Amino acid sequence: MPPSDPPLHRRIRSFVLREGRLTKGQQQALETLLPRFGVNLSQGMLDLDALFGRSAPKIVEIGFGNGASLAAMAAAYPQNDYFGIEVHRPGVGNLLLQIDAQQLSNVRLSHDDAIEVLRQQIPEQSLDAVYLFFPDPWHKRKHHKRRIVQPEFAQLLRSRLKPGGIFHMATDWQHYAEHMMKVMSAAEGFENTAGAGQYTPRPDYRPLTRFEQRGQRLGHGVWDLIFKRTA
Ligand SMILES: C[S@@+](CC[C@H](N)C(=O)[O-])C[C@H]1O[C@@H](n2cnc3c(N)ncnc32)[C@H](O)[C@@H]1O
Repeated sequence: MPPSDPPLHRRIRSFVLREGRLTKGQQQALETLLPRFGVNLSQGMLDLDALFGRSAPKIVEIGFGNGASLAAMAAAYPQNDYFGIEVHRPGVGNLLLQIDAQQLSNVRLSHDDAIEVLRQQIPEQSLDAVYLFFPDPWHKRKHHKRRIVQPEFAQLLRSRLKPGGIFHMATDWQHYAEHMMKVMSAAEGFENTAGAGQYTPRPDYRPLTRFEQRGQRLGHGVWDLIFKRTA
């Protein structure tokens, strides 16, 4: 294994699969559209330019949920290619429906564990950005080890990002924001674009989710952190 591909012994997963009910539309989208827009682990290492059929900036969103932010960004920035990773099948079905409805040609997706997708399918130094918006916060102390942002995860991302590429996180849970800040500030090869220890105002490209709008009305905070791969 090359040195830039650190062994991740953690098989503690950052999610619990709750199947949830699929709507008829989502079920149909999974059957008909997933083969067209989806990839799976058995395909091994990907050639991202070949997958999208062009050379363009490549952005990964981890845990896209119902896909609303990803679809909005893909529509707003047709010059970028977006690769979404989400294990929750109804969310995957939902994003597929949006790809179809909006005729988005710059979105591809995976419904496997993002850690494995990054390790097994995303080439080194191939990404311009990785987005992680509102990851599962795992509130209880005994569950903190399930949080996806960990030192090994930072190094995995570092190896997949191009030098100068960015890792953008957002969370509405202050304790997780502080954890992200601590892990990423200590991570070799990254620099906080807002200055040491600083959070970033939400950049325009990150759509405001409905959940977040409601939170704002209730006076809840949201923290954005943007780190750049420097080396
Ligand atoms: C709290 S939700 C947020 C969803 C979305 N980003 C949003 O802002 O609404 C976190 C999502 O991350 C997904 N997730 C967690 N760990 C994952 C992993 N290792 N690989 C892929 N998806 C993951 C979960 O299934 C869940 O849908």
